[in-house]
Amino acid sequence: MRVLVTGGAGYIGSHTVLKLLGQGYEVLVLDNYANSSPQALARVKILAQRGFDIREGDVCDAAFLNDVFADFRPDAVIHFAGLKAVGESNQEPLHYYKKNVSGSITLLECMQAHDCRQIVFSSSATVYGEAEYLPYDEAHPLQPTNPYGRTKLFVEEIIRDWAKSWPAASAVLLRYFNPVGADPSGLIGEDPRAIPNNLVPYIAQVAVGRLDHLNVFGDDYDTRDGTGERDYIHVEDLADAHLAAVRYAQDHKGCEAINIGTGHGTTVLELLAAFEEASGKKIAHQTVAKREGDVARSFASVSKAYDLLGWRAERDVADMCRSTWNWQSNNPFGYDG
Ligand code: NAD
Ligand code: UD1
Repeated sequence: MRVLVTGGAGYIGSHTVLKLLGQGYEVLVLDNYANSSPQALARVKILAQRGFDIREGDVCDAAFLNDVFADFRPDAVIHFAGLKAVGESNQEPLHYYKKNVSGSITLLECMQAHDCRQIVFSSSATVYGEAEYLPYDEAHPLQPTNPYGRTKLFVEEIIRDWAKSWPAASAVLLRYFNPVGADPSGLIGEDPRAIPNNLVPYIAQVAVGRLDHLNVFGDDYDTRDGTGERDYIHVEDLADAHLAAVRYAQDHKGCEAINIGTGHGTTVLELLAAFEEASGKKIAHQTVAKREGDVARSFASVSKAYDLLGWRAERDVADMCRSTWNWQSNNPFGYDG
C-alpha cells in the first residue's frame, strides 16, 4: 500500500514514517521544510534501513501536488503539513489560514482528481477550547480560542463535508493531546526552530544547558499542585495510532474524529520531577504569571480510539522523559547543531 505523508520531515511525521516503513508500506514524503530539516529524513532512512521518495514542495502548490499524485498514485494520505505556533497564528492569521486551510483544500481536490480516497488528518485537542466537562470526549463542544485552533476546526469541517459528498471517501481526524518524547534510538526527535513554546522541549533545553531556567506559568490553577495539567502522549504511541487509523480507513467509509491521548493528566511540577529523575539533572524553575489562553486541565476520553482503532497508549511519562532526554543529550542543538 502506498501512503503519501505531507509534513513527513516534521516531529510527528518523521516518527510515523519510520513506523510505516517498518510495517512495509511504500512511503512518499512531501515537505517544504518550513519547520524541519532534511536531516530528519536521512536519519529515518538509516533507522528503517529502507529508502523512500521525498519531494520538496508546498501543499498549497496544486501543480506540484498533481505531479506528485500522478507519479506516486497514493492509496492514502497522512496530512501532517501545517503551521502550529499559537502565538504566531495570532500575529499572522491569514498566513495560517492560507497554509493550513487552503493547503488542505488543494490536497483534497488533488486526492479526488486522482481517486485517492483515504485521509488521516492531524487535528488537535485545541479544537475543544475551555472544558465544559472532563475528560474531553469527541462530542464535547468545539470552541477553539485562537486562529491556529480554528484552522484545525475548519479543516475538520471541510474534510467532513468532502467525505459526505464522496461516498467512496474515508477520513480519520486525529485530535492529538500533547505529543512528547522521541524514538528510543535518540536519532530523531523534536527540534524546535526558535525558543520552544511547549513545556517538554523547553525543559529538555534547560536540562542540556541551552536555556537558563523554566518559567512555570501559574501555580494557582484548580489542580493537584496548582500548575496546569495535560495529557502527554508519547510520539511513538501517536505514530502507532496513525498506522491504526490508516488500517481503519481502508475498511470504513465516512469521517470520524478520534482523540489520541492517554486519558491521564500530569501537572507541570509532576512532569518536571519526572524529567529530573530521567535525566539526573536539576531543572531550575520559577513561577511566573499564567500564559494567556491556557486552560487548567486537559485530558482525553480514550474509549473511542480503542473501540474504533483498537489502539491505546502503552508508554508512560517516565518513558516520555527518558526518550526526550536521550534525544536531547545526544543532539543538544538538534539536527543541524
Ligand atoms: P512540525 O512543524 O514538526 O511538522 C510539520 C511539517 O510540515 C514540517 O516538516 C513542515 O516543514 C511541514 N510543512 C508546514 N507547512 C507546509 C506546507 N505548506 N507544505 C509542505 N510542508 C509543510 O509539527 P508536528 O509537531 O510534527 O505536527 C504535525 C501536525 O500535527 C501539524 O499539522 C500540527 O498542527 C499537528 N499537531 C501537532 C501537535 C504538537 O503538539 N506537536 C499537537 C496537535 C496537532
Ligand atoms: C499548547 C498550545 C495548544 C497546542 C498544544 C500542542 C498554547 C496556548 N496552546 O498547549 O494550542 O495544541 O500546545 O501540544 O500555546 N508551561 C509552562 N512553561 C512553559 C511552557 C508551558 O509552565 O514554558 C505549562 C503550560 O502553562 C501548560 C503546560 O505547561 O500548563 C503544557 O504547555 P504546552 O506544552 O505549551 O501545551 P498546551 O498548553 O497544552
